[in-house]
Amino acid sequence: MSFRVFHFLSVLTFAEYCVIILYETFACSEVDHLKNDKFNEMVYLTIGRLCDLKKRRLSVCKCNAESARLPQEFDGFRIVHLSDLHSKCYGENDAELVRVCAALKPDMIAFTGDLFSRSSDMEKILSRLPLMKALGKLAPVYYIWGNHEADIKDKALLMNDRLRELGITVLMNDKARIVRGNAQIEIAGLALPSRFYRSPDGSYRKLPDVTEKIIEHLLGKNDRRSFSLLLAHNPLPFPSYAEWGADLTLSGHIHGGMIRAFGIGLLSPERKFFPRYTKGLYRLSKSGSQMVVSPGLGKFRLNNPETVMLCVLNKR
Ligand SMILES: [Fe+2]
Repeated sequence: MSFRVFHFLSVLTFAEYCVIILYETFACSEVDHLKNDKFNEMVYLTIGRLCDLKKRRLSVCKCNAESARLPQEFDGFRIVHLSDLHSKCYGENDAELVRVCAALKPDMIAFTGDLFSRSSDMEKILSRLPLMKALGKLAPVYYIWGNHEADIKDKALLMNDRLRELGITVLMNDKARIVRGNAQIEIAGLALPSRFYRSPDGSYRKLPDVTEKIIEHLLGKNDRRSFSLLLAHNPLPFPSYAEWGADLTLSGHIHGGMIRAFGIGLLSPERKFFPRYTKGLYRLSKSGSQMVVSPGLGKFRLNNPETVMLCVLNKR
């Protein structure tokens, strides 16, 4: 690569980084991006962009979620967070994706929906089983549905059975507990019906709000006795997740906004411009509730690398 191209990319990266800081300082009073995410974004913009010129590669984005409510035993707990694969393959038997996940040494793997697409036939859906089996050998895997699974419910239910045979924990508006030493955290998996993503007439207009009441109806009351980890495909109702009592939410769905520039995603799957939550770690100032949003792995994207998220829990 010539020096001029390198120089141009460096200046562009620096300009983008300045805009990210200005945007987050003046436009996001309610939501705080944590500093490490800005840094990660800058590292990607610098290194990832140069790598992309040669070969598309999986990107890794690390987030540190700090909480005073986290038990000491879970300090340093490593969650590999995958989302929105949409049946995409990464080499033979997805070896590249498995290799990246293994290198991150996960204590747990969370898959937050859209493992396959609504257009997938059963053969294609089942072709994702070897990947999930390989991930299950690395760490306990927790899987929830996205809107695509909800759209082809019958096929997705068959897949649930096969995943459970592999030891994958499928959370369908259900909760589980993760125990470490004498401590435990609660993990809840939200499975919203498809009418929350698209109207019966196929449009995205007049979608019902995902309120705290609806979450409580689906998941039950959050007694807040344990640190609460919520897996929820759609990040947009983040304030409702916080009101319900989630300390940390892992989410996907937005695909990073599909096209990213200046650290901002352009478009949501609901055809809304500039969705509020697209990638990285967010925190609501009032409640301290945090959310990690994965930009996902599959589907069309520009300046928006296919990303494996690593979320490390830290005791504050
Ligand atoms: Fe998706």
